[in-house]
Amino acid sequence: MPRRIDHWLAGLLLGGTLSAVEPGWSQETRPPAAREPGLAELPEKLAELVPTCLACHGENGIPNYAESPIVDGQHEGYLFVQLRDYKNGARKHEVMNEIVKDLSRNDLRALASYFNARPWPRVDQPPVADENGEVERLLAEGQCKECHGADFLGDGTMPRLAGQLTTYLVSTMRAFKLKERTNNPAMGSLLDTYSDEEIEALARYLGAL
Ligand code: HEC
Ligand code: HEC
Repeated sequence: MPRRIDHWLAGLLLGGTLSAVEPGWSQETRPPAAREPGLAELPEKLAELVPTCLACHGENGIPNYAESPIVDGQHEGYLFVQLRDYKNGARKHEVMNEIVKDLSRNDLRALASYFNARPWPRVDQPPVADENGEVERLLAEGQCKECHGADFLGDGTMPRLAGQLTTYLVSTMRAFKLKERTNNPAMGSLLDTYSDEEIEALARYLGAL
């Protein structure tokens, strides 16, 4: 791991910017790959950087911090757009802005392709019984399926939401609503119309899929 990033990462983690996920989440749900898929094909600089990414996003795809999304198996187009937006500042996050700032477009493409090739992990988040159809109503009102797909699996630059960490879904939907995440203004104005309780309900439902 490059020393500068190592040092910076240690400072961040000690500073307590991120909160650890509940114990249990990081338990293995799939065996670690014998050899990381595609790591050998990455330029050396990126192969050295990937372990830093995994320190937060999870060796086995299950993030180590509640605010870190699952990126393994996420769509390549979407991953690239997010990395590009962190680099050009359209999406703001202290850690992510810093880590991609010296990378080229081709580096970002290679990272997007690498993480897309890793399998999406299964995180057992408690199932949600939508007995009175409240969540279905919220989803219909926001036409969420029209864009994210009937099973919320996304495609291309449309992110997969099914099985994403509930804690991350809450934090990013809140960020859209509060205009802290502004790289997709349409999501921001859509979530304006949802209360915090409704956002929680949507996140729990999507996380359990
Ligand atoms: C110190 C922890 C940490 C490290 C190291 C880190 N990330 Fe992140 N990453 C996060 C957090 C937290 C977020 C959510 C930030 C936000 O809300 O915008 C995030 C967001 C992302 C996203 C957006 C995903 C989505 O669903 O929108 C991508 C892609 C990503 N990281 C890839 C990487 C890659 C590639 C690396 C290594 C080059 C890396 N991350 C290193 C913590 C980290
Ligand atoms: C018009 C199409 C459209 C509709 C309708 C829509 N979305 Fe999105 N959504 C997007 C796009 C595009 C992105 C990716 C934005 C980006 O590139 O930053 C996104 C991003 C998200 C994210 C962030 C995922 C991540 O990994 O960070 C969440 C969560 C989300 N949408 C939830 C919802 C919910 C819940 C609804 C319904 C209430 C909804 N969306 C309706 C297009 C849509």
